[in-house]
Amino acid sequence: MRLQGQVAWITGAAQGLGEALAYRLAQEGCTGLALSDIQAEKLAAVAHALQAQHPHCHAVAIPCDICREEAVVRTAKQIAQQFGRLDILIANAGVIHSAELTEMSLEQWQWQIDVNLTGYFLCAREAAKLMKPQGKGVIIQINSKSGLKGSYKNCAYAASKFGGIGLTQSIAMDLAPYGIRVNAVCPGNLLDSPMWQGTLFEQYARKWGLPEDAIRRYYEAQVPLGRGCAYDDVANLVVFLASDEASYITGEAYRVAGGQL
Ligand SMILES: NC(=O)c1ccc[n+]([C@@H]2O[C@H](COP(=O)([O-])OP(=O)(O)OC[C@H]3O[C@@H](n4cnc5c(N)ncnc54)[C@H](O)[C@@H]3O)[C@@H](O)[C@H]2O)c1
Repeated sequence: MRLQGQVAWITGAAQGLGEALAYRLAQEGCTGLALSDIQAEKLAAVAHALQAQHPHCHAVAIPCDICREEAVVRTAKQIAQQFGRLDILIANAGVIHSAELTEMSLEQWQWQIDVNLTGYFLCAREAAKLMKPQGKGVIIQINSKSGLKGSYKNCAYAASKFGGIGLTQSIAMDLAPYGIRVNAVCPGNLLDSPMWQGTLFEQYARKWGLPEDAIRRYYEAQVPLGRGCAYDDVANLVVFLASDEASYITGEAYRVAGGQL
């Protein structure tokens, strides 16, 4: 219960890591959760199920495309009306499309920059407007190990995530005088997430002409600790960074990747 009584906003919360983080934040004592995503129906179901499992936590589904400025502004306004404050932003929503440079269309490039970088900027900006008068707040971006090292056939994703690190470091300086800390968490491959199960295994299997289980074994073998990243591996660090135990930590990007560089 390290986040007792706190209000958090999680983007991309309809599935995958965002959904898992929502449950973990409720377990850690958050009493208010604003959950955003573009998948409105799935998001409502997550908020409903979470609320049923954790009655102490008021979970509100706020459908929001983080690339649309007016939608992000409206969401922050709704959070202020509903909860009266915001303690934690988890900027988690992200997208990936794998392609070699000469096969990457401008649309695919722009989509990843829009969601992964501009979306993070808009949410951080609006969250900071709520946090500044409080003199306290925490912003955590879910980045990627691809935000710290280039990624094969993932130039747009890596560029957007590298940009997220620059944004994190810079706004950490802007917001430090207001008691707001900003950090990035850089997970390794979450091999059981919908991102891999629904998209990447299939894309890589097709490109390399291999079965999907061979692709999985290939990725596991690249991790010194020998397995894919789990939601809890990420959540453990997110909870620490969101808590007062991390009160002297800002502007950092931490890898959670089983030793994989
Ligand atoms: N899956 C991995 O292996 C992995 C590894 C490292 C980092 N990450 C990062 O973790 C985060 C979560 O990834 P995930 O694996 O849970 O992916 P996911 O695809 O399961 O979930 C991402 C969520 O973001 C939502 N989303 C997409 N575009 C949006 C938009 N414009 N506005 C609002 N919501 C939007 C999607 O609807 C989805 O629910 C991402 O930032 C991703 O880059 C994932």
